[in-house]
Amino acid sequence: MGEGLDKSAAKIRSMFASIAPRYDLLNRLLSGGADVAWRRKAAAILEIRPGERLLDLCSGTCDLALQLHRTSGGASRVVAADFTFEMLALGQRKIRAVAAPIPEATADGLRLPFPDATFDGAAAAFGVRNFESLERGLAEAHRVLKPGGRFLILEFAPEPVGPFRPLVVLYLKYVLPLVGGLISRDGGAYRYLPESMSRWPSPETLAEKLRDAGFAAVEIHPLSFGIAVIHLARKGKR
Ligand SMILES: C[S@@+](CC[C@H](N)C(=O)[O-])C[C@H]1O[C@@H](n2cnc3c(N)ncnc32)[C@H](O)[C@@H]1O
Repeated sequence: MGEGLDKSAAKIRSMFASIAPRYDLLNRLLSGGADVAWRRKAAAILEIRPGERLLDLCSGTCDLALQLHRTSGGASRVVAADFTFEMLALGQRKIRAVAAPIPEATADGLRLPFPDATFDGAAAAFGVRNFESLERGLAEAHRVLKPGGRFLILEFAPEPVGPFRPLVVLYLKYVLPLVGGLISRDGGAYRYLPESMSRWPSPETLAEKLRDAGFAAVEIHPLSFGIAVIHLARKGKR
């Protein structure tokens, strides 16, 4: 559970349904465009090979799914999965606009509707932090990956580090909830964001949880002075 934070499916779904129309705009605005660069980096780190089947887990408005498609030069087969219909509906418009062959699945990350060993790679950007049970979500990602498959998590770090730490702390505490609340008209959602970030495990603890879920060779890649972090984990060959 979320240690006091309500991460029930109903709460998370209604929160993202409510902010969906302004979600992309706020991402660009509040991160100064860094979120685009972080997803690009995530897709590069995944080292996609032609023909691979990839899952964008917690795909939201499908930015990572589209980035995976672009990075692979259109040579991968990406599926976008999320349990908030309103987010996926906006993603579908973007997918159609570029005529990308990316099917969407309205699916809960804790109960994925895919058989074992379906995907060569799976990636989740800013999604697994919202899982009601992180352990269960990691186990599901592990289950749907083929042996040797990669799982990538892009998330914010719980504790800002580095030279800009005081500025980042002030930004998260005051600017982000204010601007996010005003523009999305959902103050709760943009108070939840820094709250859930501060309760998120450290990169080392998350790496440990990935290993507990059966993944091996977990790599940690800090981004933008450690404001965001990529974990790349591999499912064992057998
Ligand atoms: C912050 S958004 C991230 C969207 C997108 N990945 C991105 O990079 O912008 C989090 C998304 O995770 C989804 N999500 C949270 N918990 C989920 C779950 N248990 N199953 C499926 N999707 C979930 C939400 O519906 C939301 O669209």
